[in-house]
Amino acid sequence: MIEQENEQLTMPPDGRPPEKQPRWRQDFPIDWPQDEYISRREFVKFLLLTSAAFTAGQFWFLAQNLLRQRADRQPVQEIARVEDIPIGGTLIFKYPEDSPARLLVRVDEEIFVAYEQQCTHLTCPVIPEVEAGELHCPCHEGVFDLFTGRPLAGPPRRPLARITLDLRDGRVFATGIEERTR
Ligand code: FES
Repeated sequence: MIEQENEQLTMPPDGRPPEKQPRWRQDFPIDWPQDEYISRREFVKFLLLTSAAFTAGQFWFLAQNLLRQRADRQPVQEIARVEDIPIGGTLIFKYPEDSPARLLVRVDEEIFVAYEQQCTHLTCPVIPEVEAGELHCPCHEGVFDLFTGRPLAGPPRRPLARITLDLRDGRVFATGIEERTR
């Protein structure tokens, strides 16, 4: 601190006190140490402001990333109790809640599958035929594989979107949607 104060003292070239200096120097003093001190202070201020702006930018990107990840995360939603759906039985449900209809099919004791219910040709509702291992679209005789949702016959070219499931504690949960092109 003392060093800084000394650094700011004006020292005229002849070393005499200010009141002994010529009038012109009293009227127009040039305080070189003070001048340098201000320049350094301005430079440090500039560096601090630049660093603060850079740090704020990094936080902004981080926040955007977190928000995007949260928006992409798909909800986990209970859709049925296992005991409520017999083998070969089906259930129409919504996932997420404001979505088009989805179709849950119990294939056997342990296996459930779920897909979007709209045919990928012209969106007619597909009908499960569990014995045949197929999903049938009556509009133009489209056929999908019950276990994969892939088209087997007729005009559909794209598989049905699959709803991923989790079975635990005697309940069936939807955990995500897999949109597929083939
Ligand atoms: S709408 Fe399903 S086959 Fe045409």
